[in-house]
Parts: sequence; C-alpha cells; structure tokens
Amino acid sequence: MVYQNLLIENKGKIQYLVINRESKLNALNKDTLFELHIALGDALQNNKVGGVIITGAGPKAFVAGADIAEFENLDVEGGKNLAHENQKNIFNIIEGFSKPVIAAINGFALGGGLELALACHIRIASDNAKMGLPEVSLGLIPGYGGTQRLTHLVGRGKALELIMTADMISAAEAYQIGLVNYVVSQDGLMSKAEEIMQKILTKAPLAIAAAITAVNAASNNEVNGFDVEINQFAGCFGTADFKEGVAAFLQKRKANFKGR
Ligand code: COA
Repeated sequence: MVYQNLLIENKGKIQYLVINRESKLNALNKDTLFELHIALGDALQNNKVGGVIITGAGPKAFVAGADIAEFENLDVEGGKNLAHENQKNIFNIIEGFSKPVIAAINGFALGGGLELALACHIRIASDNAKMGLPEVSLGLIPGYGGTQRLTHLVGRGKALELIMTADMISAAEAYQIGLVNYVVSQDGLMSKAEEIMQKILTKAPLAIAAAITAVNAASNNEVNGFDVEINQFAGCFGTADFKEGVAAFLQKRKANFKGR
C-alpha cells in the first residue's frame, strides 16, 4: 500500500511510523486512521519488525487531535460508529500489540493525539511537547479511550481535572503526574525512544508479548489479571526462548532469542 498520510521506515528491527499531515498538525482524519489500521496490521505480521516507534512529522506536533473538520456533520449514530470503529481497529490494537510500541511525543499531543500516545506502551516526550484532552471545548468528550486510559495512568482526580478544564500541560507537568515516562530535549527524543526499544528488543519477544498481555489485564475489568498472569507465565515455559534464556544464564553467555 502507498501511504498518503504516514511515513514508514524500518531500521533494523524498529519500525518508525510517522503521522505525516504536518500542515494540519498531523490531525487524524479518516484516511490517516484507515492507513494506521493497515500499517499496524502489516507491522504485526512482519517478522522483521520487532517494535514500533510512533511519532509525528515536523517539529511542532505529535498529533493535534482527531480532524475536527470531519466532526461537523456527525450525529449521535455517526459519533458512536466513529469511536467504536477506531477504538477497535486502532487504539485497542496498539494497546494490545504483541510487540512494544513507544510514542515519541514531539510536540502537541491533544485529543485523539494524546489518546494515541496513551494507547502506546511507553511514552517519551520532548521538552516542547504540550498535552491535553481539550474535547469539552468542542462540546465533546474523548472518544478514543482517553477517559479510560488517562484515568488508569494518572488517577481519577488528575484525569478529571485535565478532561474537565481542557488544559494543556507541559511535558514537565506530564512527567510529574506519570503521563510520560521521560522528558528529553527535542534533539534527543528519537535516540531516547531507540535506546529503550533496543533494550526491549534484546529480550525474549514472546515474554515481552506475555508481559504486555498480563499488564493490560490490570485495567480490564472483564478478566482476572492474576489468572491472566498465571497463564502467561505458564505459557512462557513452553517456549524455546525460555530454554535458551535459562541455558544462556547458566552458561554465562548472552541469550540468542528467536521469538519461538
Ligand atoms: N483538526 C483539524 N485541523 C487541525 C487540528 C485538528 N485537531 N489541529 C490543528 N489543525 C489545523 C488548523 O486548522 C490549521 O489549519 P489551516 O492552516 O488550514 O488553518 C493547521 O492545523 C495549523 O494549526 P493552527 O491552529 O494554525 O496552529 P497554532 O499553532 O495556532 O495552534 C493548536 C496549535 C494545537 C493549539 C491548535 O491548532 C488547536 O487548538 N488545535 C485543535 C486541538 C484540539 O482541540 N484537538 C482535539 C480534537 S478532538
């Protein structure tokens, strides 16, 4: 597929997925969301991709939200479909991705942009980044999982404050409340994301996938997270990588994981 609104580059085992609508501050229109859905499916299938770093094109924005221009003619049914389809096809997919996904937040991450970052497993922000869920300013609320994921990440009080005031917070404030894992200079953003990703990529891929599944279960009311952990833990014992990891430790050498 030829992407119009995404730039995709693979370097080693890292896939860089860049939202590329710079003139609209990378706002997520329908076409971009569709491309994201396709790209995520491809990244999941592609054995050469070990992990994905998502960022925005240009120096100003990660993603400044859903494309507000496309909201104009939506009614109740349309709004429901929009949120339902995109949660299912993109945001939930990222959260449950079996390979690590890191958001490199290089500027504004607002509304659907912050929700995109929230769905990622790890968030790193550059010091110029500004984050917020300003939907109530438009007479809306977040619809791509923001009310849930922000609450899980920073707690109910801060989530409600951010959502109800529509305030944009700085990267430093975002770090303080646990919304982002690190704040670095703009120049150092990608190298910090790569450093963390590379470290993860030296580990056993199936164990990483199991860790993602088990941790995600902590915020899923429909499952017992402890049971999920038991099953994921047990499943690891059936992998070749577990045998390799233990053998490498005992033989005092570096493990060579194959993802099997
Ligand atoms: N949807 C559609 N277009 C958007 C957008 C969005 N979420 N965010 C920015 N854009 C567009 C602007 O309309 C403008 O387009 P134009 O040049 O054709 O007029 C372009 O991107 C640049 O944005 P602009 O507002 O001129 O930049 P700024 O530096 O003055 O302000 C923001 C930056 C992020 C503060 C401002 O763009 C903004 O408030 N955006 C909307 C954020 C939002 O509410 N997101 C949640 C959506 S649910």
